[in-house]
Amino acid sequence: MPVILGLESSCDETAAALVTSDRQILAHKLAGQEAEHRPFGGVVPEIAARAHIEVLTPLVEGALAEAGMALFDVDAIAATAGPGLIGGVMVGLVTGKALAFATGKPLIAVNHLEGHALSPRLADPNLKFPYLLLLVSGGHCQLLLVQGGGRYRRLATTIDDAAGEAFDKTAKLLGLGFPGGPAVERAAREGDPSAIRFPRPLVGSAEPHFSFAGLKSAVLRARDAGTHATADLAASFQQAVIDCLVDRTRIALTAHSDVTALVVAGGVAANGAIRNALSALAESYGLPFNAPPLWLCTDNAAMIAWAGAERLAAGLFDDLDVPARARWPLDPDAAPARGAGVKA
Ligand code: KG4
Ligand code: ZN
Repeated sequence: MPVILGLESSCDETAAALVTSDRQILAHKLAGQEAEHRPFGGVVPEIAARAHIEVLTPLVEGALAEAGMALFDVDAIAATAGPGLIGGVMVGLVTGKALAFATGKPLIAVNHLEGHALSPRLADPNLKFPYLLLLVSGGHCQLLLVQGGGRYRRLATTIDDAAGEAFDKTAKLLGLGFPGGPAVERAAREGDPSAIRFPRPLVGSAEPHFSFAGLKSAVLRARDAGTHATADLAASFQQAVIDCLVDRTRIALTAHSDVTALVVAGGVAANGAIRNALSALAESYGLPFNAPPLWLCTDNAAMIAWAGAERLAAGLFDDLDVPARARWPLDPDAAPARGAGVKA
């Protein structure tokens, strides 16, 4: 069975994993950079790139040792080639190119979003194409029709902030620390989700796009009013995000009810309240709901190795001059969302 070495370094996690084409995770090594970025309240690209350089090679060696394998036993090398912070992406991709060149094994340049999009199929062999995917991470908030490896139709995107970005900014506003998503979820557990009626941007609009920038400003105003407990602010914010995600996903499901499942992936998919709400939505459509285990939701290298396995099976390799890309849409034909700001 082919073994794929996966490398991930597009944001603030450095990771290396060995995964087989029949879904065995032989090894997974991950180093976070939370301590380095915490004093700045967010990810600092230059600090991230330097940290990736320091730890990536030891992580690869650690993964090989854990699996009891030599580098030459690996059948292909899959590295994230974008989108993401360009310095970090270059560290992982150049490392992948060097290993591919040295071993003569194929290089597979993986789109990080494809890693998230296919991650549920690593965890669940029964998940078949096509499925409707809500991809919610720190940099993206999209609804995608996943028709096959390399075949994506983007149905919707955010016109301003990503969902994870909204969690991170809200955490900062509420003094809950970094990284924000898990901190907001923890605080929300102690609060009343109906305490404050925050806006639900774009809810009810015909196209299933997203918007979260106004919500963040509303949290700021409510905080400054000084009358609400932090837990109530967190719970009410999280409820507003959930209502937006569910409403927008419902629009997409209504238009594409022939899918095999509703799937959520990306870092924000680690949120229990969001998973529960989407699971209930899927049930109301008589569809299975699928979400990867929590460790596969946030950035990791197993999902990159798995996307590599799917591409290897399809014969999709890359030349050693494949570029690192800060931006790299999964569906290059998707039109920009009407009203969108700088982000595609
Ligand atoms: O997929 P990911 O690890 O990195 C990107 O590709 O962006 O996603 C990170 C994002 C961050 O914004 C983080 O705050 C959010 O996922 N996140 C969560 C939770 N865990 C991580 N958001 C809400 N609830 C969580 N439990
Ligand atoms: Zn990610």
